[in-house]
Amino acid sequence: MSSRKKLIAGNWKMNKTSADAVSLVQEIVSAIGKQTDVDVVVCPPFTSLESVGKALDGANVKLGAQNVHPEPSGAYTGEISVGMLRAFFASYVIIGHSERRTYFAETDAFINQKVLASLKGQLKPILCVGETLGERESGATLRVVQTQLESGLEGVSKDLMTSVVIAYEPVWAIGTGKVATVEQAQEVHAFIRALLAKNFGEATAQKVRILYGGSMKPANAPELLSQKDIDGGLIGGASLESRSFLDLVKAAAAVK
Ligand code: 13P
Repeated sequence: MSSRKKLIAGNWKMNKTSADAVSLVQEIVSAIGKQTDVDVVVCPPFTSLESVGKALDGANVKLGAQNVHPEPSGAYTGEISVGMLRAFFASYVIIGHSERRTYFAETDAFINQKVLASLKGQLKPILCVGETLGERESGATLRVVQTQLESGLEGVSKDLMTSVVIAYEPVWAIGTGKVATVEQAQEVHAFIRALLAKNFGEATAQKVRILYGGSMKPANAPELLSQKDIDGGLIGGASLESRSFLDLVKAAAAVK
């Protein structure tokens, strides 16, 4: 068994009012209790960070955001800084999600600035990488993942790399119900770990958690989570309801 603790993170995307978010997180917290076998993170929209953060006080569930701006403050209408997230006791932030790359034209260079700013402010980045269907079909998967990973992590030191989480999210599997096969997922996860070993050394690569994201559900999670290089999940749809999210936490806890 790997020494890496499994991590299950819920990406709520643009869902739930603050009141709905608090109800969901209260259900999660009361069911999770004092379990420490799995690290659990919830990433609500910005508007619910404060209320969800308060509901998480003293719980074994960590708070994450879905995006951040690299500058500490200034004239960036509509944006949120690392310091603002830290003030709500967020400890993680999703960076470079494919929805942000696609709909908001985020580039690898901009994503890299966010990663560096987050690490500087003691916020753990969950850096997302993944290919589109067209890229997979044309045999470009590993090349695309390598570019996104290496550009996103440029300038990150070996020491800080252990605070980074990577999420492999094949774009064609997100919200589509089409999950990557365990072989497809494990192949890319092993490739990512080999790249981390090349760039940061084997010992560091062995410490970094690599999550799978894309239609992960309680039914397919046990098989995915038992792969050698799959250290958890970044969950969209199935994180919006306490039962399925908690079943995913249980599935992660059950992997030996
Ligand atoms: P789904 O689990 O809804 O496919 O979303 C995955 C995702 O994008 C998590 O960031």
